[in-house]
Amino acid sequence: MIELRKLNKYYKVGKQKFHALKDVDLKIEDGEMVAIVGKSGAGKSTLMNIIGLVDTWDSGEYMLDGVQIRKNSDLKLAKLRNEKIGFVLQDFALIEDQSVLFNVSLPLILGKEKMKNIKPKALHALEKVGLADQRSKKANQLSGGQKQRLAIARAIINEPSLILADEPTGALDSKTGIEIIELLAKQNAAGTTVVIITHDKTVSESCGRIIRIADGALV
Ligand SMILES: Nc1ncnc2c1ncn2[C@@H]1O[C@H](COP(=O)(O)OP(=O)(O)OP(=O)(O)O)[C@@H](O)[C@H]1O
Ligand SMILES: [Mg+2]
Repeated sequence: MIELRKLNKYYKVGKQKFHALKDVDLKIEDGEMVAIVGKSGAGKSTLMNIIGLVDTWDSGEYMLDGVQIRKNSDLKLAKLRNEKIGFVLQDFALIEDQSVLFNVSLPLILGKEKMKNIKPKALHALEKVGLADQRSKKANQLSGGQKQRLAIARAIINEPSLILADEPTGALDSKTGIEIIELLAKQNAAGTTVVIITHDKTVSESCGRIIRIADGALV
């Protein structure tokens, strides 16, 4: 479970401070599929980066699966992030000139998985997203939808309890976007908590709950 209490985040802008998240109280239960919506600049990615242990905050509390997350323990956070969280981003964030197999394996390589386990696990993840037959291609040889499926395979290879997706359909046509959401919904049905930032109404309406954010505050 994700629980934020009175969480505040400021960005430094020159000598000024910009109040990016304002007293955010938020609970997301295990197994939920939640959309985060709001205008550009509202604070959606900021919120997701904090939930995803990528960014820090200034005041308030964050509990993840019953563990109080400390603001400043980078190494521990990186480990927790690699174990628990899979990220899916609008621009896929793949290593374009590397193979599909390499890209999907990356979290295992970084997580110090035994060599002999890497390939079977990678193939299993690729099978789940229907890309096993594309494994030898380079990422830059895939279509947009295939790239996003590869990013999802990479996100799920460590069997994370949480998937965070920031505009996962933003770069895709609507039909391909629906396929991507169906894939995320399938992960959710298998027990993974899924949080999706989206501008797309079809996407937010396919989630169990919609969280709205405006000017850094939940509404
Ligand atoms: N590194 C930064 N330094 C200063 N201000 C920042 C920084 N990152 C984000 N901001 C500001 O914080 C606010 C929230 O940004 P954020 O990226 O969370 O918005 P968003 O809701 O994800 O928008 P979009 O839909 O355009 O992606 C914006 O006003 C943005 O300009
Ligand atoms: Mg954003």
